[in-house]
Amino acid sequence: MSTQSLKQELTALILNAKDLASLDEARVAALGKKGRITDLMKSLGTMDAESRKTFGAEVNILKDDIATLIAQQEDALKRQEMDARLSRETIDISLPPRNVKKGSIHPISQTMEELITIFADMGFTVAEGPDIEDDFHNFTALNFPEGHPAREMHDTFYFPSGHLLRTHTSTVQVRTMMTQKPPIRIICMGRTYRSDYDMTHTPMFHQMEGLVIDDHTTMSHLKACLMDFVRSFFNIADLNVRFRPSFFPFTEPSAEMDIGCSRKNGELKLGVGDDWLEILGCGMVHPNVLKNCGIDPDQYQGFAFGMGIERIAMLKYGIPDLRTFFESDTRWLSHYGFDPLNRPNRAIKIS
Ligand code: PHE
Repeated sequence: MSTQSLKQELTALILNAKDLASLDEARVAALGKKGRITDLMKSLGTMDAESRKTFGAEVNILKDDIATLIAQQEDALKRQEMDARLSRETIDISLPPRNVKKGSIHPISQTMEELITIFADMGFTVAEGPDIEDDFHNFTALNFPEGHPAREMHDTFYFPSGHLLRTHTSTVQVRTMMTQKPPIRIICMGRTYRSDYDMTHTPMFHQMEGLVIDDHTTMSHLKACLMDFVRSFFNIADLNVRFRPSFFPFTEPSAEMDIGCSRKNGELKLGVGDDWLEILGCGMVHPNVLKNCGIDPDQYQGFAFGMGIERIAMLKYGIPDLRTFFESDTRWLSHYGFDPLNRPNRAIKIS
């Protein structure tokens, strides 16, 4: 067989190899130990010197050509394989988010974040205190006299040790005043506990407390601060407020703040109408409380306020039943919960 027709045959074999395995078979068939070109090389030994020279040169060229062709085909097959893999493994990052179940932020957490955002803007920092408290921080320091009926009103959970579960976050007023020097401007949020359970009461609920102590603090500071707060929180720039006299042992004078609403046809609307809705308790810190916490009432005064976080969350987000907050029903959560990627912000900037 001439080198010419062998070249054609091997070339067809190589070019027909559609993957690396069959290309390797072609290489073995041509250049392997028992390959066609190898056979030709072997046959050179039986030739006379003249024909060995010319035929040998031809076979060498054939060998080089075939080796080059195999290398080229190998490259081409590898590239093809890579292209196929790249298109197979492509990820389309422009795909919309898939419909997978994802977690959501509980309305209480969301509301707390909103409260922090608003009060941080007003220069408040966040303070904390323990859930398990003692009589001193929950009552005595806050000017609840021994045997005072206000103590019973709190439906306190007691431990055999005499410790108790805090009934309000006002305990953190005490802890803050005993460890910090005025000026003080803190909020505190957390769990509070009272032995009570019905449509509007759960044994555990959340409160937010605010405390400001400085050397020229008046009731008008309290009013302005709380008006700014509710307008910002409920996102109603002209929300009406009203202060009614009230009683708390730890504030004097004490007040309850109402916001304007309408209850027409049994539907509650905030910021319109001429009805009122109670929203929080507040007052000027009682001089006895300042004294109990080591602050001189002749030099410093301040105001405090406290509110139920579930209550304001229910009003803002139209959640009708308090108890559902704690039922861990994922359908409720996915309805009332918040997207973790949406950071709370305030729509109204109050200067
Ligand atoms: N601690 C009070 C309560 O639980 C609320 C309050 C806090 C009132 C601060 C006045 C000042 O009802």
